Amino acid sequence: MYVCLCKGITDTQITDAVAGGATNLRQVRKALGVASQCGKCGVLTQEIINETLSMHTSAGTELFYAAV
Ligand code: FES
Repeated sequence: MYVCLCKGITDTQITDAVAGGATNLRQVRKALGVASQCGKCGVLTQEIINETLSMHTSAGTELFYAAV
């Protein structure tokens, strides 16, 4: 589903960015350009980020690895 019409960004791209290490809207914006024009997609993007992070947390799967 398209989340950001200005940039043509989908929910899958956002969840992939979170799986790739982005943990907040700023990082997802930097990675994809989402919410960088009109900004109307910012709230939905944040919800997708939160949902993705909580799914991985409740499932007990680690998205991130400790820096060494
Ligand atoms: S819909 Fe995402 S910046 Fe406009």
